[in-house]
Amino acid sequence: MKQTFELRVNGRVHRIEAAPDRRLLEVLREDLGLGSVREGCGIGMCGACTVLLGGRPVSSCLLLVSQVHHQEIVTVEGLEENGALHPVQRAFIEHFAFQCAYCTPGFVLSAVAMLEREPDPDEQVLLEYLSGNLCRCGSYLNILKAVRAAAQGRRLHSS
Ligand code: FES
Ligand code: FES
Repeated sequence: MKQTFELRVNGRVHRIEAAPDRRLLEVLREDLGLGSVREGCGIGMCGACTVLLGGRPVSSCLLLVSQVHHQEIVTVEGLEENGALHPVQRAFIEHFAFQCAYCTPGFVLSAVAMLEREPDPDEQVLLEYLSGNLCRCGSYLNILKAVRAAAQGRRLHSS
């Protein structure tokens, strides 16, 4: 039986009528039209469906809508500010850090979460934060370049 859930997504409150066991991935894609949230493996292994939940990267394929009632969710669509891309998004473009781009939203959100917590990440921290995201096109070298560049830009900005 359907119930009403309230989700704060990209700064806006949405009331969702859904069965409690509907996956967050489906709610975001099908009910809210957020196409950046992608299904890959469906079992928490690839990171294509990553969203930020209270600022932490999570796999939306593993969460039920009933588990995120009243919680704060951010997808890639919510990163831009006043029409400007987030610095991590810009770095991905500048460093050609994608081919098909299916994995890109997940990588971008994991990198954004990392930089919020670790503004000056060393290589080990960086690899740990991105370890839950897979790129089937093998764009890892450029993805790492982009994330390092975004971290460096942030350091320069704050110094
Ligand atoms: S689709 Fe969720 S982790 Fe792969
Ligand atoms: S760019 Fe194609 S899966 Fe990563």
